[in-house]
Amino acid sequence: MSTSTELKARKAAAVPNGVGTKGIYVVKAENSELWDVDGRRYIDFAAGIAVLNTGHRHPKIMAAVAQQAEAFTHTCFHVASYESYVRLAERLNALAPGEFSKKTLFLNSGAEAVENAVKIARYFTKRSAVIAFSGGFHGRTHMTMALTGKVMPYKRGFGPFPAEVYHAEFPQPYRGITTEQALADIDRLFHGDVDPKSVAAIIVEPVQGEGGFNVAPFDFLRALRHLCDEHGIVLIADEVQGGIARTGKMFSIEHAGVVPDIVTLAKGLGGGFPLSAVTGRASIMDAAHPGGLGGTYGGNPISIAAAHAVLDVIESEDLCAKAMRIGQRMRSHLEGLAKQLPCIGDVRGLGAMVAFELVKDPKTKEPDAELTAAILAHAEKRGLILLSCGTAANVVRLLSPLTIPDALLEEGLNILAAALVDAYGRESKRAVA
Ligand SMILES: Cc1ncc(COP(=O)(O)O)c(C=O)c1O
Repeated sequence: MSTSTELKARKAAAVPNGVGTKGIYVVKAENSELWDVDGRRYIDFAAGIAVLNTGHRHPKIMAAVAQQAEAFTHTCFHVASYESYVRLAERLNALAPGEFSKKTLFLNSGAEAVENAVKIARYFTKRSAVIAFSGGFHGRTHMTMALTGKVMPYKRGFGPFPAEVYHAEFPQPYRGITTEQALADIDRLFHGDVDPKSVAAIIVEPVQGEGGFNVAPFDFLRALRHLCDEHGIVLIADEVQGGIARTGKMFSIEHAGVVPDIVTLAKGLGGGFPLSAVTGRASIMDAAHPGGLGGTYGGNPISIAAAHAVLDVIESEDLCAKAMRIGQRMRSHLEGLAKQLPCIGDVRGLGAMVAFELVKDPKTKEPDAELTAAILAHAEKRGLILLSCGTAANVVRLLSPLTIPDALLEEGLNILAAALVDAYGRESKRAVA
């Protein structure tokens, strides 16, 4: 019996069923590769779910963390503060879109950042309603589950959820939902469900992550900005998955030239250490009373040190430009495969946030979750870690570290192609066209 088989059995006995795992038990990781307890080597196209944009154990991040650990590891910023927290806030304030004064608060997880963005928007506007989108994902706490527009696996059985959350359609050109239809859906909400003057915030992922790497059309994001201005609503861009150079810009919304009032960050910001941030207009961020925001671990010194190094590495290694190059290579590879394999209905993404959607028939576009799962399994057998996404679990997303060497990227893409042919040809008993 392999060690990972034993560990899977121990996990099943000791850890709740609800904590889903792939069954890979890692012992070592370096940049874009990891090795498991059985000595198997994997190329990592998951990057800890878009966390390791700077790769596993980047030497500069490791050095910054080691140096901070020698000085102090935790004081709680509310009790004994430290300069590095303030300096990271200054850096994010300068980097975030918008030529106005900004402030930043640090927390631990993406969900916590979103929770705080909503708290701040409600306090500032003295309104309670929040509009989110179908297919959106914002976390696993109660408020963020309420905001999430994807039932499985995130919402089933966990309600009731906080009130005053409304969902509108997210544009999906591949599924025929246009910007105009999505905007008409918000109009429907405003006339049928919620007075726009009661809406504190609209929260949007400029590129939906868990929902299937749906890229918000830029005119849609511009229209949201316009609606928010018209009705005094706070526009929150959830950049937890799409931020930190992943799409070729520090913030994915920058591609659209739209300036949100608040952005949420997490994942890539800490380079593997838990850290999230809420950055926004100073006038909005300052609304809450002293003591109303924060937490014991928010802006932990180790994570803050890692984040400084992450920002340095993104700059010194020009990872935004690298994300564009990786994205182009992934897309051209997938578009080539799509010409041969009709099961690939759509290839989409922004920068190095690339995905392809699997369908049973390109005409009906019926989602193929079974084939998606088979592709992931075949890739894993061949040594490539992939993740799925999409409300129908029929999208494969590629999230390699942005530091991946060209040769490993090619090796990973070749494994992906082989896994696709394996899964499509054998499991689904369909001939490759
Ligand atoms: C867009 C977005 N928001 C929020 C979250 C929640 O982040 P966390 O899992 O760190 O709480 C995620 C996680 O995948 C996400 O993709």
